[in-house]
This record gives sequence, structure tokens and C-alpha cells, in this order.
Amino acid sequence: GGLGVAAGILQRHGEGPDGKAPAPKRIAAQLLPGESLAFRYPGDEDRAVAVRMDDGTLVGYSAVCTHLACAVLWRKDRGTEGELYCPCHEGAFDARTGEVTAGPPPRGLPKVALTELDDGSIWAVGTTRSGESIEAGLCRQLGDD
Ligand code: FES
Repeated sequence: GGLGVAAGILQRHGEGPDGKAPAPKRIAAQLLPGESLAFRYPGDEDRAVAVRMDDGTLVGYSAVCTHLACAVLWRKDRGTEGELYCPCHEGAFDARTGEVTAGPPPRGLPKVALTELDDGSIWAVGTTRSGESIEAGLCRQLGDD
């Protein structure tokens, strides 16, 4: 059934034998196109943001600005399809890649890998370093390198 499949998916990206990979965390019952959600991941202090783009693409990032660690916000009204924006010094990041598009941030935003289960729920299942692809991050976590 669906729950069995869900458990399999989540376990696959979950805490490894070394205990270092962040455990999956359910962050929303659903996320509709045009919606965003602030959450904490991987730790209870770690600000993160999830966005469902208008075309359905689901993206997740650390919401800690790489400049001086202010909170990065989703601004749907900026850019052509919205952007991740830091109000402290007007830093901006591409919503689809996390790369810097404006302002002083020296690096893009680290990604938070998200998975959507059959019931529509959204789970955070891993993180990457800044500039690293989600795929590479998950492989590193899973020990597949
Ligand atoms: Fe984000 Fe300076 S802290 S732009």
C-alpha cells in the first residue's frame, strides 16, 4: 500500500548507518502551485524554505543567506517567476537553482532535497552543500560515492 511505499522511499534517503545524514521530516500536508513554506531542516534551528513554482516544480533551500546569515524569503512578486530574496542587503537567488542573481551573497543557497509522496505530503529528505547538486548530495548521504 501507499504507506509501505512511503516508508521505503523515506528510509532510502534517511539516516544512514553512521547517523550523519539528516532524517526525513514531513514539512507539509501539501504544497500547491504558487505556495511557499518556511520550515526548519535539518535541525530545529536551521531555517529552510520550500516553494512550489507555478509550473509545479518543487524546490527547497536553506533560508540562511550566504552573506551574513539573514533570513531569506520567497518573494513571488519579484523577477519573472519569483525569487528568493534577502532583505538585509538586497541579495537575491534564482528560485530554480539557488544561484546568486543580485547583491552581496558570495555563494548560492544550499539545497534541501524534497520528496512528494502519493498522498501529496512534502518531506525534506536531505541537504547539500552550497553549489552541489541534489543528486550528488543524496549520493554522498547514501554512501554511493
Ligand atoms: Fe543577505 Fe546580506 S545578509 S544580503
